[in-house]
Amino acid sequence: QANLHEGYRLFPLRSNDFERGYLDVLSVLTEVGAHSIDTWNAQFQFMKKHNDTYFTITIMDETTNRVAATGTILIEHKFVHKNGLVGHIEDIAVDSSHQGKKLGIRIIEALKFIGQATGCYKVILDCASKNIPFYEKCGFAPKESQMAWYI
Ligand code: ACO
Repeated sequence: QANLHEGYRLFPLRSNDFERGYLDVLSVLTEVGAHSIDTWNAQFQFMKKHNDTYFTITIMDETTNRVAATGTILIEHKFVHKNGLVGHIEDIAVDSSHQGKKLGIRIIEALKFIGQATGCYKVILDCASKNIPFYEKCGFAPKESQMAWYI
């Protein structure tokens, strides 16, 4: 994995990232909703219990001790490809004050590494058309179409 800029460090998601602004960073992506420490803990504990399936990482700004960027890879177990594994990259977000400093590409590199290390035969993601050039720089190529059904 390529080095991070000085002043930044990569971590797995930690239980006290609630206080370090993790959900504020996610809000650049979509509506996060009003969380309390209890709703945070419930989700954090669920993901911790399934820590062979959910891998969420953060890049910390060491100067402020706040989360600057995050991303998740979810490992799906399939029957096809002889009990193959597929990595799904989700919830990539770089805080607006830290965008354009290569943190996004570092997050994706780290998640691709986790996908490879866990034995996935492919890693896929859905994204807005405007982010296609970013993901192409991260080594991804467009494939087929994305569909959605909102409830
Ligand atoms: N269009 C074209 N090129 C881009 C874009 C873009 N939208 N964003 C980044 N790039 C390029 C950069 O110029 C850079 O190119 P270079 O290596 O030639 O200099 C390269 O991609 C890497 O850019 P980073 O600095 O790593 O990008 P950044 O840290 O800003 O992260 C991201 C990019 C994740 C899209 C960030 O801007 C962001 O959080 N945006 C809002 C939330 C979002 O859209 N997240 C993605 C959702 S999709 C998903 O979660 C699967």
